Amino acid sequence: MSSSLPHVAIVGATGAVGVEFLHILEQRRFPHASLRLLASPRSSGKKLHFAGAQLPVEPLTPESFKGIDIALFSAGGSISKEYGPIATAAGASVVDNSSAFRMTQGVPLVIPEVNPDAMPTTIGPRGNGAGIIANPNCTTIILLMALTPLRRAFGVSRAVVSTYQAASGAGAKGMDELLSQTDAALHGREVVPGMFPEPYAFNLFSHNTAIDPVTGLNVEESKVIHETHKIWSDASVRISPTCIRVPVLRAHAESANVTLSRPAMLGEVRAALENAAGVTVVDDRANNKFPTPLKASGGDDVLVGRLRADLSQLEAGASPEGPTRGFDLFICGDQLRKGAALNAVQIAEMLLARAGR
Ligand code: A2P
Repeated sequence: MSSSLPHVAIVGATGAVGVEFLHILEQRRFPHASLRLLASPRSSGKKLHFAGAQLPVEPLTPESFKGIDIALFSAGGSISKEYGPIATAAGASVVDNSSAFRMTQGVPLVIPEVNPDAMPTTIGPRGNGAGIIANPNCTTIILLMALTPLRRAFGVSRAVVSTYQAASGAGAKGMDELLSQTDAALHGREVVPGMFPEPYAFNLFSHNTAIDPVTGLNVEESKVIHETHKIWSDASVRISPTCIRVPVLRAHAESANVTLSRPAMLGEVRAALENAAGVTVVDDRANNKFPTPLKASGGDDVLVGRLRADLSQLEAGASPEGPTRGFDLFICGDQLRKGAALNAVQIAEMLLARAGR
């Protein structure tokens, strides 16, 4: 990058995450010289609102990255695989929201609050996947925003995680399917499953990714395990996830049962979370007020509550008010923001900071 403001492109600008990229770049006044919006030829002629202007959407081609310094990708894995290397060869740094490169050796997988040290120290000439920084899976990001402060303070040896995932994780089409099925159900029309294998309105179902015949894990669950190991640089932590889609539009919820490496008091666990950047504790036992997807929607912070000692992990006769290694927590985060676009923009901001802009 030169020392002037960066030229930025969004690949998949018309999608659910793409539109959120626009909001976040505008809200955070992301420094840029120009912004190019790219999508499929279907969107040619569309204009999207950005900072008081209407920007045209251009069809993605191999020539789209000429003069681009930072390319934010969210158009699915196959587009990232095909066009990510083209963008880096043209000199752009790519922040990729797909799973295409997450587990590729040498490609950093970054949550800025969690593993900023994984960011490359230089952003120079490209080759072999260099120049690509991967944005983790949304479920992993939201989980690790809550678990990393506990890991830093006490160590984490095991987590059992159950998710309640929003339609937005499947993109704009997923959200449309939930809305249209809900409308159909409310008006007595037949609910016809589309991209999801089960009816979505007034229902929930196991995450619609392929199941490994040996482990029984679906792809989403495998991502949570493997990405956590990569981000924490620790393959010894044991994670047991169950990923479920629920009829919520855009924020994921996750219940986590955690085993710490060292005993801690509930107050210490709470303090670790309260002091963590990007985390807000919402834990009002007296009024039964805790995180909800709606409270998390549109916000930047991951909300954490229902903090309590896990009675099943207490030593015999021990008090839940004393030190223990087992805790339960409930986590909500906006899947489109911290789970996707916000995290990617934070990575881009780190790139600018490293380039001295
Ligand atoms: P388009 O709206 O033109 O189809 P989501 O994950 O919310 O469904 O969004 C997917 C994004 O990826 C959209 O912006 C979509 O553009 C874009 N996209 C899908 N297929 C292609 C393609 N072949 N080339 C470029 N962009 C694509």
